[in-house]
Amino acid sequence: MLSSQQMHSATINGVRIAYSDTGGDRPVALLVHGFALDRRMWAPQIEPLAKELRLILPDLRGFGLSEPGPAGPLTMGQHADDLLALLDYLGISEAVLYVGLSMGGYTAFEFWKRQPARARAMVLAGTKATHDDAVRREYREVMARDAEMVGSSAPALELMWPLLCSPSRPLHSEIPQKLRVIMEDQSARAIADGQRGMAQREDSVPMLSGIDIPVLVIGGMDDLLTPPDESRLMASKLPCATLHLIPNAGHMSNMEAPEEFNRSVLEWVAELGAK
Ligand code: MLT
Repeated sequence: MLSSQQMHSATINGVRIAYSDTGGDRPVALLVHGFALDRRMWAPQIEPLAKELRLILPDLRGFGLSEPGPAGPLTMGQHADDLLALLDYLGISEAVLYVGLSMGGYTAFEFWKRQPARARAMVLAGTKATHDDAVRREYREVMARDAEMVGSSAPALELMWPLLCSPSRPLHSEIPQKLRVIMEDQSARAIADGQRGMAQREDSVPMLSGIDIPVLVIGGMDDLLTPPDESRLMASKLPCATLHLIPNAGHMSNMEAPEEFNRSVLEWVAELGAK
C-alpha cells in the first residue's frame, strides 16, 4: 500500500486531483490507471519500480480521491490535459516514461497527440488503439444509465468486474476481491461519465506509425476486454515496439502477474538506458 507521506493533491485545470509521488531524482514514470479503478491498482508496481524510477500515480479526474469536475463525458483528451498540467505543476519538464493500462493506455494516445515531446517511452498494457463499434458504445451507454439510476458503481461490478482477470482465476480469490473493493469505491458519476468519455474515443490505429519512441506493449494472454490480438496489432504498427504477452493473465496483468510485469518493464527500461 502507498504510505501517507506519498499522498498529495493539487488543483489541476480547476479540479482537485489526488496523486502519489515516490520522489527522488530518478527518471520519471507516470502510471495511469484503468476504468473503473484508481491508482491503488498499481500497488504491486510501487516497490520494485520505485528502485529505478520516480513514480507519479494520479487518480484521474472523477476516480479515486480526485474530484469529478463539471458534469459530462470524461474524455481521454481531458485526462491527457490533466496529466500534462500535473507534470507542469510538479515542474517536470523532462520527457517521462508513460505507463498506461487500458483506459490509461487510451489516454496515452491523446497525451502523445498534444505534446509528443513529453513522452520518452511508453508502456501500453491491456489496452487497444481501436475505437468502439456501435455495440460497444451502446453497452457503455446502458452501463452509464444504470449507474445513474442506482447511484453507485454496482452496474460496473456486475458487468465488468467478472471480466477483469483471467477466467482461470476464481472470483473469490485475492486479486478479483482487491479489484472489487477499488471498484466499489468509484462513484456513479465516474462510471457514467467515464463510459461516455471512452465511447467518444477516436480510432488511434492510424497514428501508431507516427509514435516513434520505444513502446513496450504488454498483454495478458487471457484478456477478455482487450484481447491479445489488440496488443499484436499495436506492436505490428508501432515503429519501435516490444511485445510481451503474459500467459495465465487477463486484463489486469500488472496485478495478476506482477513479477513478470515488473521484470518486463525493468529489463526494457534498462535496455533503453543502455541505448
Ligand atoms: C479499462 O480497464 O480501463 C476498461 O476495461 C476499458 C474499457 O472499458 O474499454
